Amino acid sequence: MADLLGPLLGRPGLLTPAQEAGDPRSYRQHLLHTGPEDGFSVVALVWLPGQHTPVHDHVCWCVAGVHEGQETERTYCRAPGDRTGRLIPDGSVVNPTGALSALAPPGDIHRVGNTGPAKAISLHVYGADLSRLGSSIRRVYPEAPGGI
Ligand SMILES: [Fe+2]
Repeated sequence: MADLLGPLLGRPGLLTPAQEAGDPRSYRQHLLHTGPEDGFSVVALVWLPGQHTPVHDHVCWCVAGVHEGQETERTYCRAPGDRTGRLIPDGSVVNPTGALSALAPPGDIHRVGNTGPAKAISLHVYGADLSRLGSSIRRVYPEAPGGI
């Protein structure tokens, strides 16, 4: 999937102006493709500077790439043997335009946001029909240390 998505990243005219539109209230998801017959969905997420997700995990696998701008991802894990549900930050990376990443549950708890000075857009391929589910987020976690 990354081999297919990678060459599209940063390509001018790939998305329509409507598909590149952000929302000052929150990051925004544009559903580009989905179909029960395919078993996957393609979305564009648009982030204005400073916007970020809550800490969350996912209903399915995902391959993502930064199409415009940059995104910061902070990942979390659980302390071994800890039964309180407390999350521990275990990594942070800044992904520039063209960067690819992937995740698959379990062990996919993260928070993503735009820490750059301009709009950021990422393209995501999910292994689920998001027209039915509405979102790839399985569970939102309470605020965890580390910020974005
Ligand atoms: Fe996510």
